[in-house]
Amino acid sequence: MKKFITLILALALLCAPACLVSCGNDDANTLTMATNAAFPPYEFIEDGDYAGIDVEIAQEIAKKLDMKLEIVDTEFDSIIGGVVSGKYDMGMAGMTVTEDRLENVNFTSTYATGIQVVIVNEDSEYTSYEDFYTGFDEEGNPKGVKENITIGVQQGTTGDIYSSSKPKDWGFGEKNVKRYKTGAEAIMALQAGKVTCVIIDNEPAKSFVAANKGLKILDTSYTEEDYAIAIAKDNDKLLHKVNKALEELIADGTVQKIIDKYIPAE
Ligand code: ARG
Repeated sequence: MKKFITLILALALLCAPACLVSCGNDDANTLTMATNAAFPPYEFIEDGDYAGIDVEIAQEIAKKLDMKLEIVDTEFDSIIGGVVSGKYDMGMAGMTVTEDRLENVNFTSTYATGIQVVIVNEDSEYTSYEDFYTGFDEEGNPKGVKENITIGVQQGTTGDIYSSSKPKDWGFGEKNVKRYKTGAEAIMALQAGKVTCVIIDNEPAKSFVAANKGLKILDTSYTEEDYAIAIAKDNDKLLHKVNKALEELIADGTVQKIIDKYIPAE
């Protein structure tokens, strides 16, 4: 009998580590956030760790939900697909709410706003994106794009979507847009003279211009947009929980405090 009990105990001990991994509800307690961490001040890597406005807001949300935050750094244009398929619980990446994205995912309340701006080299002859057009029709809409104009964007972002639309819709046409995996790569292409400008969100634009010599942001801004967290359409429960936590964090000033930490008032 004693032997039998010892055997059972030994078996139980052997099983324990496996059970910790597979029998616990680890998954239910982890909040997986997909982002693209090359987008300061919203998300970036600092001293080997994730930092930024989105990262800190997500940490506060996870804390409220009593969950462990897990951040996955991936390409921006794969975030929505991963959220839809259930690979990630949420997408948080300075992500703009757009009609098209709303067809595939739900968004929480807005926690920040962004503006698309145009970055050029300091010695650029252009003072506004309107200078990129050949002229305007009677209604004031652009007729076409000047030769040799190339717009650098991060693939799949709103900067990409708007720039790729037709000139009459205030885009620059698919063929005049060059897409890069990150905003940082687009900036490198601008410095190397491979593109005429980079169209990107204003706060990352400011960070890139501050960190790189010889660049400037044009005064005319392109579009205004709202940032929110993307959650799968079939995950209403999580949407509700995250939204409640986010709204509390907005109401008690936590979100503003985090934003002020990364974007000091001018
Ligand atoms: N706001 C823009 C968009 O939603 C750009 C976001 C890019 N974010 C990033 N983490 N790289 O398309």
